[in-house]
Amino acid sequence: MLNAQQPIGIFDSGIGGLTVANAVSKALPNEEIIYFGDTAHLPYGDKSLEAIQGYSIKIADFLLQKNCKLILIACNTASAAAYETLKNYIGDKALLMNVIDPMVEAIANDTSIKKLGIIGTKGTISSGIYEKKLKALRPTLEPSSLATALLASMIEAGFYNNSVSQAIINSYLAYPDFQDVDGMVLACTHYPLIRKEIEFFYHNRIKVFDSTDIIASSVQKVLAENNLLNHLKNQKHHFYVSDFTPAFETTARIFFHEEIVLEHFPLWD
Ligand code: DGL
Repeated sequence: MLNAQQPIGIFDSGIGGLTVANAVSKALPNEEIIYFGDTAHLPYGDKSLEAIQGYSIKIADFLLQKNCKLILIACNTASAAAYETLKNYIGDKALLMNVIDPMVEAIANDTSIKKLGIIGTKGTISSGIYEKKLKALRPTLEPSSLATALLASMIEAGFYNNSVSQAIINSYLAYPDFQDVDGMVLACTHYPLIRKEIEFFYHNRIKVFDSTDIIASSVQKVLAENNLLNHLKNQKHHFYVSDFTPAFETTARIFFHEEIVLEHFPLWD
C-alpha cells in the first residue's frame, strides 16, 4: 500500500531529467525526490531498445528499493523505449509516469498549433511516438520531426547559451520543414537548457513546449488523484549518478540554486 510520505523517484540518462526534477520540486515543495542520472550510459539517444529497457529496469529496482511511491521517467528516449516494459515490471509497486503523454495532451489541446516541429534524440524521433500519439488525438495536426543527435551531449558537456551552441541549434533548425511551424516540441529533457536559443532562432514568434511545468502539474494531478500528495514537510532530496562527472555537478547546482550533493552509486559494478 503506497503512502504520501514516500519519495518520488525521477530518472534520466544524465542532467536532462534535472529540468523536470526542478519543476517538480518547485510545484510540490513538500515532496522528497530521489533522482538517478545514469551518467555511465549517457547518451541514451543512440542506444538500442533492449539496452534502454535493461537500464530502465535496473534503475526502477533501485528507486523501488528507495521506497518511491511514483517513478517518473524524466527522459523522452526511455519513455519511448521502456515505458510499457516498466509498467509490466513495476505493476502496483509504484505509480509510473512518462514525459511523453502529458506533453502530447497539452499540445493536442492547444488549437493555435496547426504545424508543429519536434526535435529529440535519434531514439525518440525514430520511434515516431509523438506523431502517432498526436495524430490519434488531433488528426489534422501537421507534425514534422528531426533527430538532433548532437544536442544532448552538447548540453551535457556544458555547451548552452553560447555561440557554439547557438550555431549548432541554428544549423538544425534550418531544416526546411521547420520554417513555417507554429510550435516546437522539445522532446528531450535536456533541451529546456537551450529553450531561449530556440526561441531566439524564431524571434519568439512560435510556441515552444518543454517537459518542465507540463510534467510537474501532471505529477501533481496524478498524486492528488491517488491521495498521495505529501502535506507534511519539505524533505531532503537525493541525487545519485552512476558515474560521477564534474560537469554534472556544476550544472546540477546551477539548476537547483542550492548546494546539491551528488552521490555516486555504482549501479553497474
Ligand atoms: N534527456 C533524454 C531525453 O529526454 C536523453 C538524452 C540522451 O541521453 O540521449 O531523451
